[in-house]
Amino acid sequence: MTLQGRQAQGGSVPTRSRFLPRSLRGGIPGGVGAPTFLLLDRWHPGAPVRVPFLRLQAAMLRSLTLVTILLPLLLPEFLPESSGPSLASDDAVPLIIAHRGASGHAPEHTLPAYDLAVEMGAHVLEPDLQMTRDGVLIAFHDATLDRTARGPAEFCTGPVRERTLAEIRQCDVGSWFNERFPERADPAFEGLQVVTLDELFLRYGDRVRWYPETKQPEDNPGMEEALVELLHRHGLRDAAVERGQVLIQSFDPESLQRLRALDPALPLVQLLPRQALVDRTAAEVLEAVSAYAQGVGPNHTLVDAGFMEAARANGLFVHPWTVNDAGIMDRLLDLDVDGIFTDFPDLLAERIAASEG
Ligand code: G3P
Ligand code: CA
Repeated sequence: MTLQGRQAQGGSVPTRSRFLPRSLRGGIPGGVGAPTFLLLDRWHPGAPVRVPFLRLQAAMLRSLTLVTILLPLLLPEFLPESSGPSLASDDAVPLIIAHRGASGHAPEHTLPAYDLAVEMGAHVLEPDLQMTRDGVLIAFHDATLDRTARGPAEFCTGPVRERTLAEIRQCDVGSWFNERFPERADPAFEGLQVVTLDELFLRYGDRVRWYPETKQPEDNPGMEEALVELLHRHGLRDAAVERGQVLIQSFDPESLQRLRALDPALPLVQLLPRQALVDRTAAEVLEAVSAYAQGVGPNHTLVDAGFMEAARANGLFVHPWTVNDAGIMDRLLDLDVDGIFTDFPDLLAERIAASEG
């Protein structure tokens, strides 16, 4: 039965992630680590909550008491089994990197897309980062709202950086997917709101790996500082440094250099566009990258045996993007890449299993 079929029947979806608590394996009906308001309304955090406040307060008090008693007993269940990935990700190679969430199945950068990615066994969640006018990092790919936001034109068109979070919250970032992909449309996607990086970190915390990308950093001053502050606030900075639980990527070397200046220990990944090797060799490019980054994220067309050899010679791990074709996945797996960005984590999991079988 397909994933969608199982979900439609209210069934759980199997997951192979090693970094989920054992109690959550085999399906995550409410999402992982969801804060109260998200549990009340799984994918529409801004929707009205029908639970009366006093009942809610009493329920919260009861839950708090229960948690205080049970937490020491439950704690081992909520710890990852291993100490997490190394920078070269050698304990979970190749990494399944959910590009904008499972964005082939649900609207990119929305809670359904991220929930599905986790349920499908993705190891890593990728949020592209844009910054709102009031300085909030949101999971959003484009510099402008036009492609994926629907709603009042004064709030839901134009540059993200010219709108406040409150304004952008008025936009529906799910309906475009139903328009664009009617065969994968789901009424539950209508009315979805943008999510902040803070909310994503709250929801999944250190139970997944992260791959934030600074987008248009030249137009969003302060983006790197805001990202580093959130890593500290969510206890992810040390996990990033000690076991590569957060890898920070950018096409812009200056953004990576700013991150390095803020915290030289953070693991960084230089993205390479398709044209990156037009007038330079892979060896030249990768030697330069290795001066400030631990990994490289090339457009998948750049990756061949020579590229892999040059990356290894310079101590870089290799995470090509964005691969949604089984044949291309197989080609890259044969080359021993360290991970692959994909909109279809389920397909990549299948190809990895086939390559191992
Ligand atoms: O970050 C890897 C890949 O996502 C780069 O392309 O445009 O999808 O962010 P883009
Ligand atoms: Ca990206």
